[in-house]
This record gives sequence, C-alpha cells and structure tokens, in this order.
Amino acid sequence: MKKNQQTKLIHAPRQAPQLINTIQPPLYRASTIIFDNTDALFNRHWTDEYDYSYGTHGTPTTFTLGDNIAQIEGGKYALLAPSGLSAINLVNSCFLSQGDEVWVADNIYGPNMEHLQNLKSRYGISVKVYNPIDASTFQPTEKAKFLWLEAAGSVTLEFPDLVNLVKKAKQLNILTALDNTWGAGLAFNAFDFSNEHLSVDITVHALTKYPSGGGDILMGSIVTRNQKLHHQLFRMHAIQGISISGDDVSQIQRSLSSMQLRYEHQSQSAIKLLNWLKQQKEFVQVLHPSDEASAGHTYWKEVCKEGHSAGLVSVILDPKYTLEDVRKFCDALTLFKLGFSWGGPVSLVMLYNLNEMRSLEHTHLKQGFLVRFCIGLEHSEDLIQDIENAIKTLNKP
Ligand SMILES: Cc1ncc(COP(=O)(O)O)c(C=O)c1O
Repeated sequence: MKKNQQTKLIHAPRQAPQLINTIQPPLYRASTIIFDNTDALFNRHWTDEYDYSYGTHGTPTTFTLGDNIAQIEGGKYALLAPSGLSAINLVNSCFLSQGDEVWVADNIYGPNMEHLQNLKSRYGISVKVYNPIDASTFQPTEKAKFLWLEAAGSVTLEFPDLVNLVKKAKQLNILTALDNTWGAGLAFNAFDFSNEHLSVDITVHALTKYPSGGGDILMGSIVTRNQKLHHQLFRMHAIQGISISGDDVSQIQRSLSSMQLRYEHQSQSAIKLLNWLKQQKEFVQVLHPSDEASAGHTYWKEVCKEGHSAGLVSVILDPKYTLEDVRKFCDALTLFKLGFSWGGPVSLVMLYNLNEMRSLEHTHLKQGFLVRFCIGLEHSEDLIQDIENAIKTLNKP
C-alpha cells in the first residue's frame, strides 16, 4: 500500500535488526500493547500473571524489577505499586473484609494505621494494637484475619519479637504481612528468618527508600512466596488500575546494583553516630536496634544474624527542652535537611511528639521529644559535627 509521509512517520519500521545485550534491561513504555492477531486478543487473561494485555498490567520492564525485588527479599512473586503506601493499601483492601479483625504494631508506619482506621469506620473492620516487643499482647480472636509487622519500627526503632508473633499467627491461620522497608531484604530474609525456617506470608517494601536511593522516586512492592496469595493480589492490582511509569521503574532498576553498598555505608555511619549520640547529655535515650539498651535488641540479634541495620537512629531529648528548643535544634542543622523519608544520599531529620503517636503505654520509651536522623551518604564525621553545632542552640541561655 502506498503511504503518505505522515502515515509513514507513524508506521516507520520498528523492528531493530537484532537484539543486543546491555548492562541494564531495555525500557518499555506502554499503555497500548499490540496483539499479534485476534487469537492473541481473545486468549488473553488480563487478571492472570505475566500476560501482556495493557500497560497497567505490566511490561517486561516492570516484571523485571518485580522479579529482582522478589529475589532480593527471598520471595518468589512481586507486584509494583506507585508508592510504599499504595502497596500497603493494596494488601489491606485485598485481604480485609467486613467484620474482620486486623492486628497492627503500635509503632507501625502511621499512614498504614490511618488507612486501617478509615476501613474500620467504613467497613466495620476491627483494628487491634499490640506491643511489638511483647508477643503476649497479640491476642487474636477467631475473627482475626491479618497481622501487620514492621521490623524495625521506623521512628522508635523497636525490633519486634518476629519469631513468637509469626509462630502464633501461623498456629491460628492468620495471614502475616511485614513492612520490609527498614530491612530492605538485606538485613534479614523475611521468608526464612529463624532456625525453624519461619516465614511471613507477604512483604511490602517502600522502594522509595533504599532501592531508589535518590530521594526522588516513589514506588512500592508486594512480595510473596505463595502463588495463591500472589494471584489474589495480582487480580486486585489489575482491577484497581494500579500503574507505574516505566521510566521510574528503570531508574530504580539502575539503582539496585548499588543498593547493598549504600545500605551498608549508611548502616555503618548510623552506628558511628549512635556511639557518639549516646555520650551527649542532651539526649536521655538513643534508639537503634543494635544497641543493647534499645527495646527489641535481642530479637534483632536473633533475626539479623550478621548485625545488619538500616541507617536510622533516633534520640529522645531531655524533657526539659520545649518544642521550641527542639525546633531550634532541628533548624540549626545544615547537612541534615528537614524532610520525610530515608535511604537517599542526603541525610534527613524529623521531629516527633510520641505522646500523639502511640496508643499503648510504653515503659521502654522515656518522655521528651523524639528526633530521628536518617543517614545519607555524607561522611559520618561531618554529620556528627553538624549535630554538635546544633546542640549548642539547646544550651544557649
Ligand atoms: C516504614 C515505611 N513504610 C512505608 C512507607 C511508605 O512509602 P512511600 O513513601 O513510598 O509511600 C514509608 C515512608 O516513609 C515508611 O517509612
């Protein structure tokens, strides 16, 4: 058929002469995926896995990153979501139905709790809170469907009693989901974390943090080893129209190769900071799971056998310091920028009032405002110097 120039531009030959090998996998951008013929169209299964049908249901680019994340975390199947929080919400909406009971740790990522409270008021889901370092506070009834875990909690950094919590849930056929963002699949294997080869059912990971590593891209993942669970999640993911940009996926794919090096560097810097922070009289408590004085330290040791930990360390300031003092301290930091999130190149600081964040009574946490330091890729000595300078504002008459 003779074609006009405009048509030729659109239907230019697309087939490359041959495929080549590159360090990074090719990037596919797609809303439409072209079917070879009507047989392929009528035989597609858009709610099944790995069946290309439309951009929202995945491309080789998204499936490749998903497979890599699953492999890093010790799982088998993965789905990607536009943010860590949307991955959490997908899990909640996939498995919770009217009248179910869900158990969440008191130190769970705040917006997860917000989402559950929203489901509670709309669908009559019962949201129960347990103390992650005391498995006896997890007292499920026969309505219990789901147990949310987080290791370690991302603000107060208690490492939960994973072994006993998961054991109890398994005995009672309660599904377990772990927010694996802190461990990133590197600190421990959530699908095989004890001598008895215990495993959670589902992990959720905010790829926004360590996998991205740039502080610029949002994404989340959901990993399982169980095909049936994965299939349920896949279907929910498909019908909700959840989609991520191929460009974002390829950026995260590119950062994955350096993730472990960054994680270890940030972890070591955090430990240097921890040792220094503990000597400062302005802080009544320093929180980091590797520290013997921190709650859940023995559980951390039990599960993170090689001493791994993320680059987060929190301090509780002497209660004599007012909110205004703590704000001045945070404002005086220059290398630590005030902002949410972690795992990027720039160190971040955030302040919290624990009295507004916890529903259970916590004897292991002292009174006072909490400041969380998220360690970036700067030199640890410079970070210490930055905090040392800012401390001076606390002691000004
Ligand atoms: C522990 C934890 N889980 C999940 C999330 C949510 O990730 P995102 O920011 O990608 O929504 C965060 C974000 O700060 C987090 O700290």
